[in-house]
Amino acid sequence: MVTAALPYSNGRLHVGHIAGAYLPADTYVRYLRATGAEVRFVCGSDDNGVAALKTAREQGRTVEDLTAHFNQSQQRDFSGLGIEFDIFGGTHQPDYVDIHNKMSQDLFLKIHEKGFFTKRKSKQLYDTEAQQFLPDRFVKGSCPHCKCDCAFGDQCEDCGRSVDQTELLNPVSVMTGSTPELRETIHWYLRLDQLQGRLTEWLAAKKDTEACGATWRTTVLNQSLGRIEAEGLPERAMTRDLTWGVPVPLDDPDAEGKSLYVWFDAPTGYVSFTAAMLEQAGGDPSDYAKWWKDPDCKVLHFIGEDNIVFHAITWPAMLLASHDSDSIQGELGEYQLPHNVVSNAFLNIKFPGKDEEKISKSRGTAVWIEDFLKTFDPDPLRFYLTAIAPEQSRTAFDIDDFVTRNNGELVNAFGNFFNRTMTFAHKYFEGKVPESGERGDVDREQLSRLATIRDKTGVELEACRFKSGLNEVMGLARAGNGYFDLNKPFLSRKTDMIACGRAINVCLQTARTLTTLIAPFLPHTAEKAARMLNLPAGYESWSAAAEELPAGHALGEAEILVKKLDPKEVFADV
Ligand code: MF3
Ligand code: ZN
Repeated sequence: MVTAALPYSNGRLHVGHIAGAYLPADTYVRYLRATGAEVRFVCGSDDNGVAALKTAREQGRTVEDLTAHFNQSQQRDFSGLGIEFDIFGGTHQPDYVDIHNKMSQDLFLKIHEKGFFTKRKSKQLYDTEAQQFLPDRFVKGSCPHCKCDCAFGDQCEDCGRSVDQTELLNPVSVMTGSTPELRETIHWYLRLDQLQGRLTEWLAAKKDTEACGATWRTTVLNQSLGRIEAEGLPERAMTRDLTWGVPVPLDDPDAEGKSLYVWFDAPTGYVSFTAAMLEQAGGDPSDYAKWWKDPDCKVLHFIGEDNIVFHAITWPAMLLASHDSDSIQGELGEYQLPHNVVSNAFLNIKFPGKDEEKISKSRGTAVWIEDFLKTFDPDPLRFYLTAIAPEQSRTAFDIDDFVTRNNGELVNAFGNFFNRTMTFAHKYFEGKVPESGERGDVDREQLSRLATIRDKTGVELEACRFKSGLNEVMGLARAGNGYFDLNKPFLSRKTDMIACGRAINVCLQTARTLTTLIAPFLPHTAEKAARMLNLPAGYESWSAAAEELPAGHALGEAEILVKKLDPKEVFADV
């Protein structure tokens, strides 16, 4: 079970979103499928909570209309990039809201039954003009930690620390601009303090890759364990004074007019969309348990760095609190804690002639997927975003570098290898794989790379080191060019056709392997390459990647595999 963070349905997607969670998740899923694993890839929009409400207000439209609109626009962006989910739901979309509410409420009730909520009074900021409480992002102010003036009632935009809204300095209502007052209200708090011991034990075990069977990124472990060490885990309210969301399912007058906290219901969306997916396929929605409550199924969450605490602490705590057994991972029939939480850092952006800066919607410093796809093919973006993936720390989308690396690596190394190989096969060998002849050491050395690089790439992908996996594949393309240059078929074709055929045969075998290895990263390019080599359907299969094409195999038409980009045209109007 692979999930990608549910995007808020209050805006369009930009390159930072894609680099953060969706592209690595898609690459991983494509690889898993190629190995024959049974895998489902689940996503959908995060419609509830204050984010969408606030934007709907600003844009003067209903929140239903807003979230439906962006749910659609995001789906178009994903599919244009070849990011293929098995299901793309939405926590408040008409086809999903019923099952989503039900499953979120069931989980809430289970945790309630287990005694992991306390109901208590607290003071919250209240807007007397709008006559409502101001949860989370409905209130703005100065950060109690770093003193910047861009903190919201849940988190600081600048230092990223979590903020208790009552600690905000100079709070202002986002609704009316007025100064809110403190009023008493009642909420249900998840007893993270009671779960802290087991959560810490679970997280600490992830440091030992061999024992836990997964490679957890140090950023994820440092941030989550660091948070626990620094602040402990105080209980946290899982309800809000809002009507846009999943209604609190308690038969209690104090629950009236309240919804579940959006960070409670959103991750539950992974599960409810799984159930909806099964139902849409004519199956039994309760089979979701096979994906979520069976220790034989591994769950991986792909997220951006601002989601770490929610996926590595809050969500596992919710699951843990729902257990009947005291097993940490969960017994059969209980929600399993995630096998891995894979997080990337943020992506900065660098426009030509400007300094590197943060991606910002309000300042207009972003490259939007919708705009990008109007001019470009998706694979150059997939290539670049993997090549510069912010796996350990921030990196930048540099427009000039994007062009340079596309033309220098993807076109010159990868595309060119196919191009020259295909040209020879068509010109001198009737578009067929020539006889392998008697192979020498150089040929055997090149051929031995095929399985080796396949295995190395597999190890990297398995461990979610996508950048390094792509490097392996590009290394094979470069080795292919090196082999070509060394064997000089452009000379032997005049003097020794057998030698020329032997070299082109090896190059075609290399191209065949490259096609499979590049497929998880650049599926559109791989499809073209497979057409050129006339590979049968299922060419993505990892185990067959190094199988040889027989002599006499008829090739397809040569095509331009990847296009050179003209730096002058790029982003002229983006
Ligand atoms: N909408 C959140 C964000 O974009 C992510 C939610 S992930 C989920 O940061 F797990 F809660 F669904
Ligand atoms: Zn701050």
